[in-house]
Amino acid sequence: MSQSNPASRSSPAQSGVFSTGTDARVEKFTESISFDRRLYAHDIQGSIGHAQMLADVGVLTADEANQIEATLNEILKEIESGQFPFREDLEDVHMNIEKALVDRLGDIGRKLHTGRSRNDQIATDTRMWVRDAIDHIDTLLVDLQKSFVGRCKQDADTILPAYTHMQRAQPVLAPHYWLAYTEKLERDRQRLADCRKRVNICSLGTAALAGTTIPIDRENVAKRLGFEGVAANSLDVSSDRDYIVEFAFCLTMIAEHLSTWADEWVLWSTVEYDFIQIEQQFCTGSSIMPQKINPDVCELIRGKSARTIGNLQSLLVLIKGLPLAYNRDLQEDKEPLFDSFDTVAACLELAAPIVAGATLNVETINSRLDRGFLDATTLMEFLIKQGTPQRTAHHQIGSLVALAMKRKCRLCDLELADFQAENSILSENVYEILGVDKAVAAFQSYGSTSPLEVEKQVTRWKKQLNLN
Ligand code: ARG
Repeated sequence: MSQSNPASRSSPAQSGVFSTGTDARVEKFTESISFDRRLYAHDIQGSIGHAQMLADVGVLTADEANQIEATLNEILKEIESGQFPFREDLEDVHMNIEKALVDRLGDIGRKLHTGRSRNDQIATDTRMWVRDAIDHIDTLLVDLQKSFVGRCKQDADTILPAYTHMQRAQPVLAPHYWLAYTEKLERDRQRLADCRKRVNICSLGTAALAGTTIPIDRENVAKRLGFEGVAANSLDVSSDRDYIVEFAFCLTMIAEHLSTWADEWVLWSTVEYDFIQIEQQFCTGSSIMPQKINPDVCELIRGKSARTIGNLQSLLVLIKGLPLAYNRDLQEDKEPLFDSFDTVAACLELAAPIVAGATLNVETINSRLDRGFLDATTLMEFLIKQGTPQRTAHHQIGSLVALAMKRKCRLCDLELADFQAENSILSENVYEILGVDKAVAAFQSYGSTSPLEVEKQVTRWKKQLNLN
């Protein structure tokens, strides 16, 4: 049964071709104002740029463009003060703002949409929005890098067991750990910077899909809106959302990095590990167990990566197989985009203070460093450096580890005779290289946990991040 009412339901996007208004259910189903209102500032900025460009080419008079600009700024203020009545029957952010403009300026307002379509308008709005979103995330990434690098001094002498397969592997300096995350976040920044180049291209002026017969100046409007270039093909740029997918991927990769860190710290804060204490203001309690101090924020950071992965998946599926050019399906890009941004921004905002404020439980960590034969690989390389082939040394040290396991002791507790029985090269000096401190000190290669290398890297990062 139809629920249309031509008198009250006639969207301004509806031309004279329609003889009936929109069915109320369609109105509800197709509206995007409930979520795309978030683009209001960019929509207004884009419209002002467009109007001024139209004046520059003589399509509008300077006075008309100035009236449009002043009125749009008035509308902007109303929106920002929460007084602007967004209407669902006006469908989207573009029509809501344009209708308010026309209500105030009459025919002058009716000229704004000259040489433009909502198809290039929405692409322009989202490109400007993503550009700002990238810059915001980048700042938050730097804040988190600062938290990691900021810890390096206080944790300079702390040695942590590092794992492969979740089994103790080799000892590393705590700052080596912190810089591992700093590097990951740096690649996240680089990805964003690269993505920004493709985002920051102006689609305005491509109109519906083919361009326009109005003598517009696309370079002019692109420059006014801070774009670095102008899209060269109207069909391409009005139909694609690859820049949104790309940004969503960058966000997902950040969320993945955060989830690895968060997962590690959830484990590290268990009684079983007891490596770290997360500040209590970043933990929550249990409603039944009075003793609980749970690392919920880290758990949620780990969990929220799922949303960003889901959003990326939605976007990829959304654009799959869409024919050129604009299709209404593309409206579905906003919610996953906004959600991924909000999610990652919120995670980064919390990760930075958590990282900065946590305390390593150095005593517990130290008390267990001699478990897990963290120095076995160093001992093997000690043999290799004296001419034993790697495979032979690997086997011999394995046998020594088996012997120590049998005796429930450390490698350095074995007798000299035990070492010599495996490899006659080994003499008293074997005891000078065993133990985690000595194992860490023995590293040499670039990028390793060698104290000298780590110090160099910390210095480099401090300089890059302007830290003392
Ligand atoms: N809300 C639309 C979107 O997000 C705006 C563009 C609408 N264009 C159209 N021809 N209906 O994609």
